[in-house]
Amino acid sequence: MAFDSRGKSPRAGSARGADTTGKTNPGAAEENGLSENSFSDDSDNQSFSPVSSNGPRADLFDKCDLDTRADELAARGLYPFFIPIEGSEGTVVRIEGEKKIMLGSNNYLGLTHDPRVLARAEEVARRYGTGCTGSRFLNGTLDLHERLETDLAALVRKETALVFSTGFQVNLSVLSTLIGRNDTVIIDKLDHASIVDGCRLAAGETLRFRHNDMADLERVLKKASERPGGKMVVVDGIFSMEGDVCDLPNVVRLAKQFGAKVMVDEAHSIGVMGKTGAGVAEHFGLQADVDLVMGTFSKSFASIGGFVAGDRRVVDFIKHNGRPMIFSAALPPYAVATVQACLDILKAEPERREQLWRNADYLKHGIQRLGFDTGPCDSPVIPVIIGRMLDTFYFWKELLKAGVFTNPVIPPAVPENTARLRTSVMATHTEELLAEALEIFGQVGKKVGVI
Ligand SMILES: Cc1ncc(COP(=O)(O)O)c(C=O)c1O
Repeated sequence: MAFDSRGKSPRAGSARGADTTGKTNPGAAEENGLSENSFSDDSDNQSFSPVSSNGPRADLFDKCDLDTRADELAARGLYPFFIPIEGSEGTVVRIEGEKKIMLGSNNYLGLTHDPRVLARAEEVARRYGTGCTGSRFLNGTLDLHERLETDLAALVRKETALVFSTGFQVNLSVLSTLIGRNDTVIIDKLDHASIVDGCRLAAGETLRFRHNDMADLERVLKKASERPGGKMVVVDGIFSMEGDVCDLPNVVRLAKQFGAKVMVDEAHSIGVMGKTGAGVAEHFGLQADVDLVMGTFSKSFASIGGFVAGDRRVVDFIKHNGRPMIFSAALPPYAVATVQACLDILKAEPERREQLWRNADYLKHGIQRLGFDTGPCDSPVIPVIIGRMLDTFYFWKELLKAGVFTNPVIPPAVPENTARLRTSVMATHTEELLAEALEIFGQVGKKVGVI
C-alpha cells in the first residue's frame, strides 16, 4: 500500500499493540501514554524544535526541564538518537553486541574501510602527528592542505579551492563573508541547516523560495532585484533529506537573467554525480556557469572537513575574512590524507560510482515495491516517508531490533507530517545484503502496520 508523501499512515494511532491480523501498530506508543502532542511546543505538534521559557522572571535553564520529549521517548524505548556504534565494517556495524546492516550512513563510496585509505591516514599521522593545533591562518596550514586544494579545484574546474575543518564551517564562512549589509542571498526552503545558519550570520537579507520550484524562484529573484547590492542563489545539489536533485539548469538560467551569482552545495553529490564524480554541476554540464562550489569530506570522502572552490579573488577574500575558519583549528593531517586518498580512488575507479547507482536503483525500487513512499528521490539517498513522528520512531526501533540501521528524520529537519526514515546506500553494499535489508523492511513494515 502506497500512501501520500505528505499524509499520514492510514493505521497510525488507530489500534492497540496488536490487531487481529497479528500486526503491532505504531498507535501502541500512544496507548502507552506517549502522544504525538507530548512533542508539542505550541500549535506545532509535529516539531522537535527547542521549547522556550518565557516571562520576566524565567530562569534561563527552565527550558531544560520543560523539554521532556527525549526522556519520554527513552522511557518507552523509542529514543532514536545518539545510538552508540561499537564497531564498523562499513556496510555492517555492531550495536549492543549485534550486527546491523548499515543503511543510515553518508559513506556513499564505501571508502571508510578501504585498506589504501586507512594506510595513507596512518602513514600521515606518523609523519605529521595527530593534529595541527592551530588555525590554517597561523600555524595550521600543511603542504598536504595545499596539494588537496589544487586537486579539488581541478576536480570541480575552478581556479582555486580552500579546505576547512567541516562542511558546516564552509557555509558559515562563505555566506557570512560574502553577503554584506545591502546584499541578498536566496535559498531553497530545504537547503541544509549550515546554509540557513550561514544566512543568519550574514549581514544582508535572506529570501527563500519553495523547494525546487522555479516559478517561485523567479518571483523571489524579482523581489530581490528591488534591493540594492549583490545577489546570490544557494542550492543543495542533492537535497540531504529528500534525495532529489536540484533543478540546476533553471536555477542558473534564472540567476543569469537577474544578475545573481550561483553557489551549489555538493555535499551529497560530490563523488556521486557527474562523469568524473565532480557533482551536480558536472552532471548538468554547468561547471562554468556556477560561481561557487562547496563540498564536504564527511560523505563520499570518508572523513570530515569541507571546501569551497571558485575564482581566486573570491576564495582569497573568504580565506582572509571567514571567521569560522580563521578562528578554528585546521583539518588534521590524517583527515587530509584520507580525503586525498579518496580523491585518487575516485579518479582511478569510476566503476565504484556505477555500482553505487546500481545499488541505489535496487534499494529504491525494492522499497517502492513493498508499498512505501520514497518521495521524488533520485539519488543514493532514499527516504521512506511515514508521516507521523511516533510511527516513524516505532518503525525505526522495530527495524533496528530486526537488524537494519536507518535514520529517523523529523520536523523541523523535514516538512510537517513527513517524518521519515532516511536510508542511503554505499557502493560496497552487496546485492545479498540489500536483499536481506529489504526482506526485513517488508516483514517489519507489515508487523507495525505502515504497509
Ligand atoms: C547539504 C549539506 N551541506 C553541508 C553539510 C555540513 O557538512 P559537514 O558534516 O561536513 O559539517 C551537510 C552535512 O550533513 C550537508 O548535508
